[in-house]
Amino acid sequence: MVDRTAHWQAVYTTKAENEVSWFQENPATSLRLIADANASADSAIIDIGGGASRLVDALLAQGFRSLAVLDVSAAALEAAKTRLGPASADVEWIVADVTKWRPAKSYDIWHDRAAFHFLTEAADREAYVDRLKSAIAPGGQVIIGTFAPDGPQKCSGLVVQRYDATSLAEALGSSFELIDNLADAHRTPWGAIQHFQFSRFRRI
Ligand SMILES: C[S@@+](CC[C@H](N)C(=O)[O-])C[C@H]1O[C@@H](n2cnc3c(N)ncnc32)[C@H](O)[C@@H]1O
Repeated sequence: MVDRTAHWQAVYTTKAENEVSWFQENPATSLRLIADANASADSAIIDIGGGASRLVDALLAQGFRSLAVLDVSAAALEAAKTRLGPASADVEWIVADVTKWRPAKSYDIWHDRAAFHFLTEAADREAYVDRLKSAIAPGGQVIIGTFAPDGPQKCSGLVVQRYDATSLAEALGSSFELIDNLADAHRTPWGAIQHFQFSRFRRI
């Protein structure tokens, strides 16, 4: 089994921001789905496996005031903090493996782009859903982007589990109602197209 911390620390300490396939200058699909979730400036939003993503920059620029980013790689979060400068002090940074994390508070919106799909063991997926249930109260919303069934079989050299809306809803279980799903074609920094799907759920 892969040592997740070692793998992701190696990625973020050896590659520049735009040398990873998942880099996005503008995380437009995530921003649209967060807007569709009726987020207000005070909504508590957590980006799971946020890495060094620019989503947090864009949300701060839109006036969101209660943001958290969780990642297993401290180096990824350091890169994001350095880029943001003093504005990083307004964000909660959590270095943790989501499958082992103990949420200390409740969030209104859970966002995950390309982290859940690395959980290829049922026990890890169950641990993830446990954390999701304890971090998101009924009425809260969950946005998860994964590789689609016609997306790549690997990311960052690791095998991934691909989903459509139905299989993702099954993985989350009956505490989550699917409210939206869309296909997203991501262009990597070197011009390859990767098919993602994004689903939005409401916690019942
Ligand atoms: C493909 S990258 C996507 C990063 C970011 N979400 C984005 O869209 O740019 C996957 C991220 O998930 C993180 N990750 C992978 N497994 C994780 C886990 N079990 N717990 C927390 N973070 C994890 C990695 O460190 C990495 O930053």
